[in-house]
Amino acid sequence: MNTKTTVISEAELRRQAEIAQYIKEFWEKQGKTPVAFVDTYGCQQNEADSEQIRGILETCGYGFTDTAEGADLVVINTCAIREHAAQRVFGNVGALVHTKRRHEGQKIFICGCMMGKPEISERMKNSYRHVDGIFSPHHLWELPEHLYRVLIRHRKVYAVADSAGVIAEGLPVVRTNRLKAWVSIMYGCNNFCSYCIVPYVRGRERSRRPEDVLEECRSLIAQGYKDLTLLGQNVNSYGKDLGLGVDFADLLEQVAQLDGEFTVRFMTSHPKDASRKLFDVMAANDKIARQFHLPFQSGNDRILKAMNRHYDSAQYRALIDYGRSVMPEIVFTSDVIVGFPGETEAEFEDTLRLVEDVRYDALFTFIYSPRPGTPAAELPDPTPKEEKSARFERLLALQNRISEEKHKEYIGRTLRVLIDGREDDCLTARTDGGRLVRLQTADETRIGQFAQARITDATTWSLIGELAE
Ligand code: SAH
Ligand code: SF4
Ligand code: F3S
Repeated sequence: MNTKTTVISEAELRRQAEIAQYIKEFWEKQGKTPVAFVDTYGCQQNEADSEQIRGILETCGYGFTDTAEGADLVVINTCAIREHAAQRVFGNVGALVHTKRRHEGQKIFICGCMMGKPEISERMKNSYRHVDGIFSPHHLWELPEHLYRVLIRHRKVYAVADSAGVIAEGLPVVRTNRLKAWVSIMYGCNNFCSYCIVPYVRGRERSRRPEDVLEECRSLIAQGYKDLTLLGQNVNSYGKDLGLGVDFADLLEQVAQLDGEFTVRFMTSHPKDASRKLFDVMAANDKIARQFHLPFQSGNDRILKAMNRHYDSAQYRALIDYGRSVMPEIVFTSDVIVGFPGETEAEFEDTLRLVEDVRYDALFTFIYSPRPGTPAAELPDPTPKEEKSARFERLLALQNRISEEKHKEYIGRTLRVLIDGREDDCLTARTDGGRLVRLQTADETRIGQFAQARITDATTWSLIGELAE
């Protein structure tokens, strides 16, 4: 495996921009504005990548549509985290045979994390002749060149060469939301949790320089963005590879001290590196959202060890307690896996106990899905599927009860929210902690503003409130 990450040079990026301009002129000469459909699977990292894909395509002259039907270009940005996500992609790519037949000249690209696994990209290449181009996440920045080969040279593209990962600064971006923005601060992951495919498809950890992150945040705030999310698979490792003496808590503090009216949040944190310093920085800065997504994965120490997570449940609970001691209003959310190979009933009950004790506002629950090539996929897994599903349902029922109880505790409180949209005759808003609030007003001029909301009622999934001024 290649272990050195690459910073793409300005000259290379300029060359790609020139190719993009050439493609734009190619379309202009035909008197046509082509449209692209970018379909995104998976996590915020992929959402952020798709925003760059749209940004690059815009410089190539493309407009956008939300269906493959009639699109001149279809880009499927895939996710490999669980078997189910991968299967959906194969099904949907298969169906594109028909849309391509109905629209002469339609080109199809498949990219994203699935294409970072050679076995999968090979299979895609061999079984789907209608696909024109395949590229892994490390080759996204070369999209103008891929497009040039397919569109103008009438060749196929297969850009999946292994790499420890790249950093390409200053790629164009078309953002889907005008209030909330993703800001990647680092890429890749070094943790190799035994069940997880991400380190294999996203390469080694590499951090953007603090000044580049700050500059992007400054520019977003100036454009009117109100809610920034600093993104990375494990933001707490930020900066370790740079050797500048700036860690994640330092970076977060610097962002929070920028001028302007905004909130900054982050994901995801790995408990093994979440520091008390980070909680202290949060507590000291009002612009940092009181929200902490801290995946625990399992409440049982044997399973945590088998997962290669490098913390135990006591250390995890101590972190939660510390966070609450310095910020009583902090909202914790988490990820958990049910049915890791060999998980016993008693071990699963440790997970239930942890959920019961911590009382998360919300939990993202997954049934273990074996990923070929990861160590956990080699472990014996005697627990029947039905038993795993039954455990999953028990966990869900417990969390739903807790979510509802926690939401009821909001009734009567007045909180700061960001009003972000309209739904029927309500406005939708988010609390600092990320909870959804339906506001009993239809005054659309308030969208995009922070406001005080009095919570009057609550359900398992959301809060109901009114403007408090
Ligand atoms: N980097 C983040 C998580 C990225 S993946 C972190 O470490 O917290 C998001 C979630 O998907 C993980 O937290 C985990 O709960 C789940 N997940 C990852 N691999 C999985 C697998 N093989 N089967 C089921 N769930 C998985
Ligand atoms: Fe996967 Fe673990 Fe890295 Fe998260 S920290 S992306 S779960 S290997
Ligand atoms: Fe994200 Fe899926 Fe890749 S969860 S990092 S898009 S494998």
